[in-house]
Amino acid sequence: MATDFIKTHEVPTQIGNILRRACYDCHSNNTEYPWYSSIQPLGWLLNKHIKEGKKKLNFSEFGTYSERKQISKLKSMKNQIEQNKMPLPFYSMVHKKSLLTSEEKNLIITYINNLAQ
Ligand code: HEC
Repeated sequence: MATDFIKTHEVPTQIGNILRRACYDCHSNNTEYPWYSSIQPLGWLLNKHIKEGKKKLNFSEFGTYSERKQISKLKSMKNQIEQNKMPLPFYSMVHKKSLLTSEEKNLIITYINNLAQ
């Protein structure tokens, strides 16, 4: 999508891949529904997270945000990652692929710091 964060900001492939892997299921229009999405209450919980997650931050629509909103969401991303709040721990328990190494966290944080300047 043309308004996708990865496109509008020409995000380096490595960073884009991390975000797709760890965040896009809940923060974009390209959710890949996992095997448990039809098993309750797990599926219900996941859908709730996706709905709330997208409402707060949708990478697919990032390009439609005002500059001010983009900056505030970038700051928020940095905080969430620094404080290990995102990806949601519940999700990472099931989706090990979404766990970020400290190296990956640093990559994203450095990238955001550079963007914000
Ligand atoms: C399992 C779904 C899920 C995944 C995966 C996930 N998030 Fe979230 N995210 C949420 C939900 C739900 C909220 C809103 C509730 C909250 O803040 O706890 C949220 C909130 C946020 C916010 C706050 C937005 C605001 O308005 O300030 C940011 C930033 C964020 N997520 C970034 C990320 C990043 C970056 C990743 C990947 C490293 C990620 N999230 C992965 C579900 C998810």
